[in-house]
Amino acid sequence: MADLQWYPGHMTKARRMMEENISLVDLVIELTDARAPLSSRNPDIDTLSRGKARMLLLNKADLADPAQTERFCAYFEKQGIQCVPLDARNRKMNDQIRRRVQEACREKLERNKRRGILNRPLRAMVVGIPNVGKSTFINSFAGKASAKTGNKPGVTRGKQWIRLNKELELLDTPGILWPKFDDPEIGIRLALIMAIREEILNEQELAVYLLGFLKDYYPGVLGERYSTAEKPFDTDTSDQELLTQIAQNKQLIAKGQTPDLTRACRMLLEDFRTGRLGRITLEQPELDQTEDAVNEET
Ligand code: G4P
Repeated sequence: MADLQWYPGHMTKARRMMEENISLVDLVIELTDARAPLSSRNPDIDTLSRGKARMLLLNKADLADPAQTERFCAYFEKQGIQCVPLDARNRKMNDQIRRRVQEACREKLERNKRRGILNRPLRAMVVGIPNVGKSTFINSFAGKASAKTGNKPGVTRGKQWIRLNKELELLDTPGILWPKFDDPEIGIRLALIMAIREEILNEQELAVYLLGFLKDYYPGVLGERYSTAEKPFDTDTSDQELLTQIAQNKQLIAKGQTPDLTRACRMLLEDFRTGRLGRITLEQPELDQTEDAVNEET
């Protein structure tokens, strides 16, 4: 794989930095992409943040299927992780997140109180794989009003804390986790949501995977987007024919008046990524166990 960040030395360094930073905080705020919440997490985070309060933000929820987002939240909450769906570009969730931070850290706050430690702000750091919206979230959540607190005794030199209010401080730089994709399908989902650079997979492969997925799980969306009054979109055909229909119906014509399948692939991917196909989630929570457990309880 071409990308520098995949070299083992680089990964070890990133991991060491993460461990160092995590040891300084009470709470780990992890971001994932709500369109593929499992593929866009690095499972190592569970070990790295052992003993810390946890919060998971299912970001880009504005692009994801709301019903699946709800199921994913239930799935993560069941694992003891506070979970909040989010559009990080929008600040209106900030109050709710602050409340959930307090809830996630309740044990720590109670322990502090018993020991007579009052007025010590909670400390949090934001982590996640590239492109899930970490910087966007820090900017929205911290806002303009927040002050950087600078170095403090007991804090690794150079660390900057953003004081959000008297209850909470945030490490100003997010922790970057590398995605893990031993399973090629995870790699495809990450490329579809642009969490990894797509050059490692070709556009045609991605588009064909997406077509197959949409036919199975969101059969209506292709017709809605690519039918024309004269030509309804027919999903009951080969991938090649589906791409041809997209090209014809959207007037993507190559030299020699042939349908431009390369541009059809690109359009399909772009339409998915920008939400023009509607709100779509590429995977489902591993529900069998969770739902069985819920059924057993009731
Ligand atoms: P990172 O720090 O985790 O690497 O991610 P970053 O905040 O840079 O966000 C990556 C891209 O995702 C940005 O778009 C950002 O605007 C977008 N984004 C972040 N949160 C959300 C969200 O909740 N919903 C949606 N729809 N998009 C979100 P970009 O195209 O790379 O940059 P720009 O167009 O914002 O300049």
